[in-house]
Amino acid sequence: MVTSVLPQKIGILTSGGDCPGLNAVIRAVIKCATRRGWEVYGIPYGTQGLITLEQGNCNGQDLQLLEHGFDLPGLLHGIDILQFLSGSILGALNKGDPSNPLIAQEILNGYQQLNLDALITLGGDGSLDIIDRLAQQGHWNWIAIPKTIDNDVPYTERCLGFDTAVDTVTRALYDLTFTAASHSRIIVVQVMGRDAGHLALQAGIAGGADVILIPELTPSLNDGVLNGICQHIVQLRQSDRQFALVVVAEGVRNQNGVKEKYIGDLLAEQIQMQGARLCQTGQPEFCHLERLETRATTLGHIQRSSPPSSFDRLMAAAFGKKAVDLIAAQTYQQLVIWSQGQVDSKPLDTVMPLIRNRHQDHLCPNPVEPENPWVQTAQDLGIYIGKSAQATSSSASGGDCQ
Ligand code: F6P
Repeated sequence: MVTSVLPQKIGILTSGGDCPGLNAVIRAVIKCATRRGWEVYGIPYGTQGLITLEQGNCNGQDLQLLEHGFDLPGLLHGIDILQFLSGSILGALNKGDPSNPLIAQEILNGYQQLNLDALITLGGDGSLDIIDRLAQQGHWNWIAIPKTIDNDVPYTERCLGFDTAVDTVTRALYDLTFTAASHSRIIVVQVMGRDAGHLALQAGIAGGADVILIPELTPSLNDGVLNGICQHIVQLRQSDRQFALVVVAEGVRNQNGVKEKYIGDLLAEQIQMQGARLCQTGQPEFCHLERLETRATTLGHIQRSSPPSSFDRLMAAAFGKKAVDLIAAQTYQQLVIWSQGQVDSKPLDTVMPLIRNRHQDHLCPNPVEPENPWVQTAQDLGIYIGKSAQATSSSASGGDCQ
């Protein structure tokens, strides 16, 4: 056993929505920390758990995470099963408002009761913003780990859960291909990504989509976009592909610039109507768009719940170990990141100003930039990715943003 100089008692919580890989990080943290002789405390339901503690509704000692409890005799020992399970054994919560000073005080009191030396949190950009304020008020020694299938936390190339979600969407596109092909239909697939198109873009390419619409390149559905899609369908049919898969990120807005819960359904209807309209113009190439059959599928939370991919498990192990190493070195207020194929960290006082500025302007902190190599890859593969992007298409380039 590697014993640290200082006795350590650390906490861990998962904040915001769940995603694949959270439990794998929890496992890695427990393993790496207990090897150092530290105690690990799991705070249930994000910062809500600290309120529960402060209100006397649970006992801090009961929150200790030990290396036992999940044995499958002869097969899995202790916490090992955690690396395979999605969700969070600590529970996840994306509600609550610690900007209310009374609530913030309860959280700070609960944290004090636990008497922790450091806290590891797993969260997306929203959670980072919230916990950073609390950490400053409470002088917490804090390490943050980025997680979200949206992959929109800045300074990290990858967030936990993203790789698995790309796999899930890719599989769904494969599964939809055959029914689309059998009926010569246009199937629109609505993919998550509140304000960012990383998931739709990468899964769309991997899954063989013909059209990919993301909010960064197609902020809203207008006639230009619908015409572009219909023209693309014409080209596909001329090359003997009678069906099409259209991936739309949920962040794409309707023609009035308003978010829709089911933008995929709306898009499917609008493609059908635009096809009929174009047909009425009498131009022969559009005549077979008169009765386009479209269908929509919203993938929803299935994108958050598949077992973590091998890459997410590896990254979870690396992230958990890095967080513990940073605490051992007493290097706090760090965001663990994935950079150039390996784990690293970035001071949160560099990360937070960017996140806050973007939030203030209601912008995504890490959107798909037009020069993103996957944008160029999609274009060069002949995928229709929206009018503005198509017009600014640059020269050939491979996608290399692993
Ligand atoms: O931010 C992650 C995310 O999965 C988004 O892609 C999606 O819009 C949102 O969470 C859904 O959140 P909820 O769990 O509240 O439905």
